[in-house]
Amino acid sequence: MNPAKELENVAQEVAQCTKCDLQYSRKNAVPGEGPSDAELLFIGEGPGFHENEQGRPFVGAAGRFLDELLTSINLKRSEVFITNVVKCRPPGNRDPQTEELAACSNYLDRQIHALNPKVIVTLGRFSMARFLPNAKISSVHGQGMRIRGRLVVAMYHPAAALHQHSLKKTIEADFSRLPVIIDQAGQMPEYQEPQNEDKTEPKQLSMF
Ligand code: URA
Ligand code: SF4
Repeated sequence: MNPAKELENVAQEVAQCTKCDLQYSRKNAVPGEGPSDAELLFIGEGPGFHENEQGRPFVGAAGRFLDELLTSINLKRSEVFITNVVKCRPPGNRDPQTEELAACSNYLDRQIHALNPKVIVTLGRFSMARFLPNAKISSVHGQGMRIRGRLVVAMYHPAAALHQHSLKKTIEADFSRLPVIIDQAGQMPEYQEPQNEDKTEPKQLSMF
């Protein structure tokens, strides 16, 4: 498989895709963009207004913040691959629905397979849920976790962080640790899903 060719195939199929109802609200599909040999893959939620107008990911306010975050760790946007879990804009920027996520998931799977990135950064809960269905973003954000052989780092969505000062500080701190995580990518242990809390026995009873 030629990665660049496969990414191009995905982009062409996405542009004409009729697999879910988001086909009706899109002006331009947004397959994602970046070099086929990118080591870092960012996965957001879905195109918003500006992305739908331009057919490119993260080009609005959240995108400018993402650019700043990349610059803060000496990376250029042109060095990373950026995409979303759904490739067409949900009307009014509503959340993507279960059927839409399911209909679109194969495109992202193919992109991940073609890119074979060293590290995947999920932005927001919908992309985190693909790898960590039961995780809480507040407890796992910013940590490198090996999930089914892939190194994944969950982060808050930059759009959410833009409007909340404490989240902005958190995502900035999480980004600042990305270079170390990328360096250590080979050594991360496999992530264990947390136990269901209802079933968890108290770890140790007090002896007193
Ligand atoms: N928010 C996203 O999740 N994706 C984009 O492409 C733009 C904004
Ligand atoms: Fe196809 Fe995905 Fe667009 Fe739905 S969101 S029409 S599945 S490309």
